[in-house]
Amino acid sequence: MKILLVGSGGREHALALGLQADLEVTELHCAPGNSGIAQIAKVHPLDISDNAAILCLAQELDVDLVVVGPELPLVNGVSDVLRRAGIATFGPSKAAAQLEGSKNFAKEVMHDAGVATARSATCTTPAEIEKALAQFGKPYVVKDDGLAGGKGVVVTNDYKEALEHALGCQKVVIEEFLDGPEVSLFGISDGKTILAMQPAQDFKRAFNGDEGPNTGGMGAYSPLPWAPSDIIEQTHREVLAPIIAEMAARGTPFVGLLYAGLSLTDHGIRVIEFNVRFGDPETQVLIPRLKTPLATLLYKAATRDLENETLEWSDDSAVAVVLAADGYPSAPQTIDVGSEFSTITDTYIFYAGGGRLLSATGLGSDLTEARDRAYRAISQIQCQGTFYRSDIALNASVAEKGN
Ligand SMILES: Nc1ncnc2c1ncn2[C@@H]1O[C@H](COP(=O)(O)OP(=O)(O)O)[C@@H](O)[C@H]1O
Ligand SMILES: [Mg+2]
Repeated sequence: MKILLVGSGGREHALALGLQADLEVTELHCAPGNSGIAQIAKVHPLDISDNAAILCLAQELDVDLVVVGPELPLVNGVSDVLRRAGIATFGPSKAAAQLEGSKNFAKEVMHDAGVATARSATCTTPAEIEKALAQFGKPYVVKDDGLAGGKGVVVTNDYKEALEHALGCQKVVIEEFLDGPEVSLFGISDGKTILAMQPAQDFKRAFNGDEGPNTGGMGAYSPLPWAPSDIIEQTHREVLAPIIAEMAARGTPFVGLLYAGLSLTDHGIRVIEFNVRFGDPETQVLIPRLKTPLATLLYKAATRDLENETLEWSDDSAVAVVLAADGYPSAPQTIDVGSEFSTITDTYIFYAGGGRLLSATGLGSDLTEARDRAYRAISQIQCQGTFYRSDIALNASVAEKGN
């Protein structure tokens, strides 16, 4: 099987590793890729916002499957373009990608599917905004309806800040605050069947103790020893399967990766948001633990053939720690960390590029061992002009040891 993977981040490096390990894969291409991906796949230059260029490359390479990593080309409808040309594609259509592209659309689908989420109001006028802020109260949760590259959501006790953010959006979703730990749980879907992956938790704030600005993610771990033992089954039953059924009933089946961002509240699981692609850095802890051959799995999803599939996992725990450039996320320095470290044992190094330079994923028999390995690698690689959080998976590993 010949595969083209689209994207260039740590997520794509982890996916490339998983795809390459599948014995069915004869050629692995990635565009635009990065220097780490170039060590395991053939990389090609590409502007990922150019649907025609993606189609052209896929046809030139004559691939059997395209796997689309980032949300931008999905929301731009690249999967429709590829499928129309007869190319099997792992990634939702433009219509189905609206689950990430519009917070309001996601709310409507959840409502129709009977999936529990924060109560909300979608507003377009100052009067509606003021009414909704008063109705839901503090802490205010204000979400730009459209794609905002992680900068669209403000959670604050400051009324002025909430109001200003809301007034700056063309369309805004204002909702009740959900109190509970956050969990990321992904499902792989062929449009009819969805297979729930293991849960992971990511760390969004830049600094230790969840301080500092929001980032793309500074680390992650899986599994979650503290989570309810039936979280996978419950999320499949209450969230993933109903959404897949609703999207199919609307005539816009969801084929690809459905990312459920969940809050585990005292009243049960609530959906915070959906994404329509693998999360970064959760993918860097999930793919190293997944034993099911990845390319075959994603090809089956793309060709509506998941019905008899199951996912197999290693018993290992995984912890990923991100090394970022000083100034990330607002004004990251340009740093070249080199590549001599790519052979550190029992640890995967996934390159990213941009403000997040790379991540180290340690595997171990428990979170403590996995953490130790990830941090040993990161402390060897870190250099002037870089930083990382030192508390990724710390609380969970202490709690696990205590049990
Ligand atoms: N209703 C809510 N209650 C509490 N926190 C929320 C709520 N909605 C979002 N958040 C917080 O804001 C973060 C970003 O919101 P999210 O909906 O995931 O948007 P995006 O990832 O597009 O920026 C979430 O990870 C969560 O920490
Ligand atoms: Mg989010």
